[in-house]
Amino acid sequence: MPNNTKTLPFFIAALLLVACKPDEPLLPDETPYVLTVPYGFPPLPVPDDNKLTAARVALGKKLFYDPVLSIDSTVACASCHLPQLAFSDTVPISPGVADRLGFRNSPTLANVGYLPLLLKDGGVETLEIQVLTPLTDHNEMDFDIGAAAKRLMQHNNYVQMSLLAYGQNPSPSVIVKALAAFERTLLSGNAPADNPDTLAALTEAQQRGKQIFFGNVAKCSQCHSGFNYTNNAFINNGLYEVYDDPGRFRLTQNPADVGAFRVPTLRNIALTPPYMHNGSLPTLEAVLEHYQSGGKQHPNKSPLIQPFTLTPQQRQDLIAFLEALTDTAFLNNPQFR
Ligand code: HEC
Ligand code: HEC
Repeated sequence: MPNNTKTLPFFIAALLLVACKPDEPLLPDETPYVLTVPYGFPPLPVPDDNKLTAARVALGKKLFYDPVLSIDSTVACASCHLPQLAFSDTVPISPGVADRLGFRNSPTLANVGYLPLLLKDGGVETLEIQVLTPLTDHNEMDFDIGAAAKRLMQHNNYVQMSLLAYGQNPSPSVIVKALAAFERTLLSGNAPADNPDTLAALTEAQQRGKQIFFGNVAKCSQCHSGFNYTNNAFINNGLYEVYDDPGRFRLTQNPADVGAFRVPTLRNIALTPPYMHNGSLPTLEAVLEHYQSGGKQHPNKSPLIQPFTLTPQQRQDLIAFLEALTDTAFLNNPQFR
C-alpha cells in the first residue's frame, strides 16, 4: 500500500478503475497541478468548476496535440499553435482541414489564461467556450463536439483519462474543460526582460531599446503595458484606410470599433512572425516602419499612433529589446510537449 498520502487518491482511483466498467461514475484523481506563477504576475484566474488537476492538464495536453478532434483526423490544435514558436505559427494564415484558409493569423497562446476576452475581436469570454470556435469552424477543424466525444469513447486511454480527470466518460464538457486546463498552464514570464536586475540581464543595446519602448517618442508601452505587455484594450493602430476584417465591429456593430483589435501581448514576439491580425507584416522591422510612419488615416485610429523618427541604431536597439522578451524556458518546457 502507498505510504505517501499524496498518492492515495490516485491509488483509490486506479483501484476503482480496475473495479468498475469504464462507463460507470468514478472518483476523479484530484491531485492538484502544481503551477508556478511567474514573478510579478497576478494570481491566475481559474474557474471553480475547472480547478487545475494533474489529470485534467494531462488530458488537455494529449487532446491539444491529437488530430482526433478534426473531422478527418488531420489537424490538431498544435498544427496552428506550435510549441516551439510560443504556440503560434509561421504563416500569415494557417491551413485547416483540406488546406482551407481562414482570415486571421494564429496568435501565441502564452499567458492566454489571463486574457479577459479571447480572440482578436474579443468575441469569446472563456477558454472553455473558445475551444468550440476552432473545433467547429469550417476552415479549421470542421467537426462537431458531440461527434468528437463519441470518437474519443472508442479510445480506451481517453476513456480512462477522462474518468480520472472529471469522473465521467469523454463528453463535450470534458473536452472543452481539459483543453482549457492545459492552456491555463502555458505561462511565460521568464524572459531576460523580466529579470529585475536589468543591468545584468540585458545587453547594452537591449537596455537602450527598453528606454525607447517605455519612452514618450515611440509610446509602445502606452498600449503594450503591464506584466503581459498588453492593456487588453481594443484599438485601431492604423494599419489600413479600409479594413477587410472590421475587427471588434463584427461583434459590437459600433462604427467606432471598425479596425479595432485587441492589443496583443509582445511576449516571445521575435518568434511569432508574421505580425498583426492578418499576418500582413513579415518582420519586426516592418512593424517599426508601420509605427514610425504614423499609420494610415482612419477615423478610428488611436491618437497615440503618430509619425516619429528613430535612427537606424535606435530601431536596432528597440528590436533588441523586443528579443529580450523571448522566454526560452517557456519554449523548451517539457511539460508542454
Ligand atoms: C487552422 C488553424 C487553427 C487551429 C487548428 C486551431 N487554432 Fe486556435 N487560433 C487560430 C487563429 C487564426 C486564431 C485567431 C482567431 C481570432 O482571433 O479570431 C486562434 C485563436 C485561438 C485562441 C485565442 C487566443 C487569443 O489571443 O485570443 C485560443 C485560446 C486558441 N486559438 C486555442 C486553440 C485550441 C485549444 C485549438 C484546438 C481545439 C485551436 N486553437 C485550434 C488558428 C487555429
Ligand atoms: C495605440 C496603441 C498601440 C501603440 C502605441 C503601439 N501598439 Fe503595437 N499593437 C497595437 C494593436 C491594437 C495591435 C494589433 C493590431 C492587429 O492585430 O492588427 C498591435 C500589434 C503589434 C505587434 C504585432 C503583434 C502580433 O502578435 O502580431 C507588434 C510587434 C507591436 N504591436 C509592437 C509595437 C511597438 C514596438 C510599438 C511602439 C513603437 C507599438 N506596438 C505601439 C496597439 C499599439
